[in-house]
Amino acid sequence: MELKEFDALASIPTKEPERQFYFMSKLAHKVAELEKEKGRKLTCYVHTFGCQMNARDSEKLLGILKTVGFEEIDYEDADFVIYNTCTVRDNANQHVYGRLGVLNGLKKKNPDMKIGLCGCMMQEEVVIEKIKKSYRFVNLMFGTHNIYKFAELLCDMYDSDRMVIDIWKDTDQIVEDLPTERKYPFKSGTNIMFGCNNFCSYCIVPYVRGRERSREPKDIIREIERMVQDGVKEVMLLGQNVNSYGKGLENPISFAELLQEVEKIDGLERIRFMTPHPKDLSDDLIEVMKHSKKICRHIHLPMQSGSSRILKEMNRHYTKESYLDLALKIRRELPDVAITTDIIVGFPGETREDVEDTIDVIKKVGFDNAFTFIYSKRTGTPAASMPNQVPEEEVKVNFDAVLKTVQETARARVKLLEGQILPVLVEEINEHNPELLTGRLSNNILVHFKGDTSLIGTIVNVSLDEYEGFYYMGSLQE
Ligand code: 5AD
Ligand code: SF4
Repeated sequence: MELKEFDALASIPTKEPERQFYFMSKLAHKVAELEKEKGRKLTCYVHTFGCQMNARDSEKLLGILKTVGFEEIDYEDADFVIYNTCTVRDNANQHVYGRLGVLNGLKKKNPDMKIGLCGCMMQEEVVIEKIKKSYRFVNLMFGTHNIYKFAELLCDMYDSDRMVIDIWKDTDQIVEDLPTERKYPFKSGTNIMFGCNNFCSYCIVPYVRGRERSREPKDIIREIERMVQDGVKEVMLLGQNVNSYGKGLENPISFAELLQEVEKIDGLERIRFMTPHPKDLSDDLIEVMKHSKKICRHIHLPMQSGSSRILKEMNRHYTKESYLDLALKIRRELPDVAITTDIIVGFPGETREDVEDTIDVIKKVGFDNAFTFIYSKRTGTPAASMPNQVPEEEVKVNFDAVLKTVQETARARVKLLEGQILPVLVEEINEHNPELLTGRLSNNILVHFKGDTSLIGTIVNVSLDEYEGFYYMGSLQE
């Protein structure tokens, strides 16, 4: 949809996305006025906390900001700053409060500066109360369900002297076709579903992201086709539990079937997905992966714990044995597929014996990589009120033991690739050494090697010379 010249007399559309396009044209008018006043472009800064879902949401925010005339900068001293927040663990929340302090200082120097907050943290009442009370300089707050209304809310913010707050408890609405601004021209995420119905007892996501709802397959395919026309080679299908994709649709379709449809898109070279739940990863999915030329050789399969007793308390609906069976089946059926995982240490009531079970699974599966988290108590979740919260000291010792095992087993597994020549999608100039390029293997391992920047966005063959612990140093093959 094109952005029209703003017409103050036109009636405001009630249908979406037309309504948001109306507000975008209004905003463009406002931004142009402010530019004239200041004699320079208006700048914006979008900062993302948390997961890939949030990263994708931020691309939607930036798409709108750029459409209405803001210039993106990569530091906080901007005319409009928005934090897309995460609340999965408490340290993410603390980080946001810390940075808000810095923003307050910047706003004192530039009183016209506007500050917005959105994302998962905003779905918590205590957070909104705290910001209203102690962070009065914030101008706009909205949550996860109405992010599609960003243009409209931004208009309200510019029209108002007060804090604009719009938080919804849930929604069944999915608005398509709003502008997005991709971080990388050659790869992108796409939401295939929103929300989560699993209610793992430690997790706040179902409370802040609402109930599961899937996008129509035709909308997903159309979006990916457009991205491919625009230069995208790799797409990541995003959902909190991709295995249950398609269940609530009028014409139900499975995740494995969706993958087969995506595979047919000409010009698309790589398909990733995040995140499957071990309780319902189907044999169909394994079968589809076995025959696919495009699905990347990587499954992220969050284990959380290796103890059947703790898994039951976590409401995960699988046991140590069934998780092991599944992981070993994947190893057998798809030997080149990397398996990575998430592990929580310190869940209420966890004993050393439980931790030994976790360590046992890590050794038996030999994960290619694992993200290990210290349990964080999230208000409102069932685990928060469980007795036997584990003392910090004990958690620390167990965490170190788990981490050590993860590092040893990952090293042994990933080192097996040494000497092979494999395709790498070149992503960027190396952060630490500008003479090197950084890219990713199909199995998600990072590779650094010497090469020309013109290779960024292309797939090249690289020999994996040396494994350096979680990444490879390689050399480009002609
Ligand atoms: N404490 C620690 N880790 C958590 N995760 C989710 N909730 C919590 C919590 N309360 C982890 C899980 C999940 C990952 C995204 O975050 O391991 O897979
Ligand atoms: Fe993502 Fe979960 Fe954080 Fe929300 S709370 S941003 S869903 S990691």
